[in-house]
Amino acid sequence: MAFETIIVEVEDHVALIKLNRPDALNALNSELLGELAQALKEADANDKVRCIVLTGSEKAFAAGADIKEMSEKTFVDMFLSNFFAGEGDAVVNTRKPIIAAVSGYALGGGCELAMMCDFIIASDTAKFGQPEINLGVIAGIGGTQRLTRFVGKSKSMDMHLTGRFMDAEEAERSGLVSRVVPAKKLIDETMGAAQKIAEKSIIASLAAKEAVNRAYETTMTEGILFERRLFHSLFATEDQKEGMAAFQEKREAQFRDK
Ligand code: HXC
Repeated sequence: MAFETIIVEVEDHVALIKLNRPDALNALNSELLGELAQALKEADANDKVRCIVLTGSEKAFAAGADIKEMSEKTFVDMFLSNFFAGEGDAVVNTRKPIIAAVSGYALGGGCELAMMCDFIIASDTAKFGQPEINLGVIAGIGGTQRLTRFVGKSKSMDMHLTGRFMDAEEAERSGLVSRVVPAKKLIDETMGAAQKIAEKSIIASLAAKEAVNRAYETTMTEGILFERRLFHSLFATEDQKEGMAAFQEKREAQFRDK
């Protein structure tokens, strides 16, 4: 399917999805989020795709939900359309691993979108923020919950209440991003990480993603039980036999997703 506001390329088992509304710093409007949801669905269904990278431009991952689109909406409009809930769910419900490659601004809904991905690799120019308070509103697609879990209450309150931005160094120190790389290397480094993921057994990748995500939804005891059951079940796969045989034979494993 042809898209207007995103660009999708599949290369070496990685789907690279680029947000592409340069005139609006990739502000998230209904069209873009609808297209993103569709692209993620297609990537999940495409056997050639084993990992997904979501990125923006050098200046902006995304500067938030589109303020021009939202400004005249009423409570009833927002409530009845369940504004961006379905689009957010589409990101979170994607089964394959998604890495956010963030350069420049990741603000408001842009920061929330990055946090919906499985991990964030940031360029040294990245700026994260939840500045909705400056518009008389608050985060609306998970920001108050996810940022608080990732960086703790004090920093999350600071971000949501003052609307200040966090630079890449602070974001890494706080646990919001997994690594920071020079801006020029962002896509290469992120594609490299995605390639590494793409080489693994996709059964194990999906299990790892499900298990880690469980940590945010349940108690430690239940989470560990969930992990243990998944771990045990992976012994039913040929990829487990291959992975462990390859180790002992001192060769690269050839996973076949079986
Ligand atoms: C619509 C936006 C936009 C946005 C930028 N633009 N952010 N349009 N919605 N969120 C547009 C500008 O209007 C302008 O277009 C063009 O992008 C370039 O932006 P400038 O402001 O001229 O660039 P600059 O001076 O470099 O400043 C960059 C910036 C600033 C600091 C990122 O644009 C900014 O503060 N943007 C808004 C950030 C924000 O408040 N985000 C939260 C949104 S609410 P024109 O055509 O006018 O020149 C939100 C809620 C999510 O995200 C929860 C519900 C889903």
